[in-house]
Amino acid sequence: MEKKEFLYEGKAKKIYATDDPDKVIVYYKDDATAGNGEKKGTIADKGIINNELTSYLFEMLASQGVKTHFIEKLNDREQLCWKLDIVPLEVITRNIIAGSMAKRLGLEEGTMPKKMIQEFSYKDDELGDPLINSDHAVAIGAATEEEVAEILEVTAKINQILSDAFKKEGILLVDFKIEFGRDKDGNLLLADEITPDTCRLWDAETKKKLDKDRFRRDMGGIEEAYKEILHRITKK
Ligand code: C5P
Repeated sequence: MEKKEFLYEGKAKKIYATDDPDKVIVYYKDDATAGNGEKKGTIADKGIINNELTSYLFEMLASQGVKTHFIEKLNDREQLCWKLDIVPLEVITRNIIAGSMAKRLGLEEGTMPKKMIQEFSYKDDELGDPLINSDHAVAIGAATEEEVAEILEVTAKINQILSDAFKKEGILLVDFKIEFGRDKDGNLLLADEITPDTCRLWDAETKKKLDKDRFRRDMGGIEEAYKEILHRITKK
C-alpha cells in the first residue's frame, strides 16, 4: 500500500491518500488539545499508544460484529482504514455522570445516572460542538432518521462490549465519544478512535483518572495514565 498525498489534519490525527481510492492512511500525532483547541500541548508517545489501543479495540469490536473503518495497523503511528464520509456528529455515551454533563446540570462527578445516557454534539469547531438531539441531527441533514436509529443501537452495543472489556481490567468506562462515517456503498462504519483522549476511564478501586482529564485539568502523570490503560487492556 503506497502512501500518497496528505489530505486532512485534525487535532490528533492526519489523513493521507493511498493508491487505492477507497482506503486512507491515518497517522496518530502526539498533539493534545482541550476546550475546543484553547489549550494545546503534546503528550509524549500518545500517537503510538492511541494507535495501538484503537487497533486493538477496533479489532475486538469487529470480532463481535461491529463494522469499523479499521483495516490493519501498518506501523507504530499508522493504520490503513476505509475512506469514509464522516457523519458530523459526536456520539457520546455516559455511564457515570462527569465532565460537561456534571457542569451543565450542577451534578457531582461520579453520580450514577438512573439510565445510560446517549447524546449528540454537532461537529462544528466554530460553534463549539453544540449539544443537539436526534430531531436536530435529522433536521439539519447531519444524518437520516434511519442512520440516527442505527447509530444509537450500534453505540449501545459498543458501550456494552467496551464496558465489559474495561471492567475485566479494573477500569470504569465513565463516558466516551465515538464517530461514524459512510463508506462508498452508504454503510455506516465506526470511525475515528477509542482512546484515553476520547473516553473517561477511572480505576474501579481508587477512582483515579486514567484519561485526558489529567491534561485538561493539569493533574500531571498523563503519559503514565495512557501507558497504564494500554498495558491493562492489551498487556503491552
Ligand atoms: O466534555 P464531555 O463531558 O461532554 O465529554 C464526554 C466524553 O466525550 C468524554 O469522554 C470526552 O473525552 C469525550 N469527548 C471527545 N471529544 C470532544 C468532546 C468530548 O472525545 N470533542
